[in-house]
Amino acid sequence: MILDETYTLANGVTIPKLGLGTWFIRNAAAPDAVRAAIEIGYRNIDTAQAYRNERGVGEGVRSSGVAREELFISTKLAAEIKNYDDAAAAIDGSLQALGLDYVDLMLIHSPQPWHDFRGGDYAAGNREAWRALADAYQAGKLRAIGVSNFEQKDLENLCSLGAIAPQVNQLLVHAGNTPSELIAYCQSKEILVQAYSPIAHGAILDNPEIAALADKYRVTVPQLCIRYTLQLGTQPLPKSANPEHMRSNAQLDFAITDPDMATLQNLDDRDYGDHAAIPVFAGK
Ligand SMILES: NC(=O)c1ccc[n+]([C@@H]2O[C@H](COP(=O)([O-])OP(=O)(O)OC[C@H]3O[C@@H](n4cnc5c(N)ncnc54)[C@H](OP(=O)(O)O)[C@@H]3O)[C@@H](O)[C@H]2O)c1
Repeated sequence: MILDETYTLANGVTIPKLGLGTWFIRNAAAPDAVRAAIEIGYRNIDTAQAYRNERGVGEGVRSSGVAREELFISTKLAAEIKNYDDAAAAIDGSLQALGLDYVDLMLIHSPQPWHDFRGGDYAAGNREAWRALADAYQAGKLRAIGVSNFEQKDLENLCSLGAIAPQVNQLLVHAGNTPSELIAYCQSKEILVQAYSPIAHGAILDNPEIAALADKYRVTVPQLCIRYTLQLGTQPLPKSANPEHMRSNAQLDFAITDPDMATLQNLDDRDYGDHAAIPVFAGK
């Protein structure tokens, strides 16, 4: 059962292979969604300061009836914060909003602020934010630290510090958009890749080629897509606020053949429809 399986990060901390994304789950709806997911067996929940639902996610976690140490809770430092003092304060702010003594993983959300995604040079600011995460990690507030949307040069910038290296890089990975070189680079550095938007934010549900392949395996499109990201060695974070979807997204007891994996890996579908204006889907 996938919900019971884990990866091990470079620092020895284990992380459940399947997580729940919570972007676009409103704060008021988050407690129910998180409790439902935990009831179904999810143990890995991903939020972010930017989602404005840390309070609701934390409430769901704290009222779930499952011991804190059995859960893996992640959040992300706002992409706009690129200096040490604001980063340190925001880390404490997340702990307070979540109502938790520690989080299992905290990421720098993006190497650039969203208004300048893939734009200017924030190398110095990212080193500052990283130093704040590293200090919080040393202080026991964070059990693991990492980044998101970082390209190889952004990772090298942090590794050049000679201090602790990122343990995770959370990236846009789905059938139709597979950054194979960057995934291979991360894997060579023992950086676990988390696959965000594994169902392409919902856009892939309309892709006829994927639908035909899902039929062949007698699974749903989301099941095929989530299984695909697992077989890449990445850690998927499908979002759902619907318990039926959460349950079916965890039924992944099938294997995609090597030729079909190659087909999915070579597929190019980055049509995000109405969501194309969101920086991470804008093709930068
Ligand atoms: N680091 C970053 O910059 C970044 C960026 C984007 C996302 N993320 C993370 O990754 C998570 C997932 O990405 P995402 O939210 O963009 O999209 P996603 O998980 O690829 O897709 C979510 C969409 O698919 C639907 N869905 C899920 N399971 C389904 C099923 N079994 N049948 C039919 N529809 C289904 C959801 O609707 P229902 O709720 O109705 O099921 C929702 O509309 C986010 O929530 C967030 O935690 C991180």
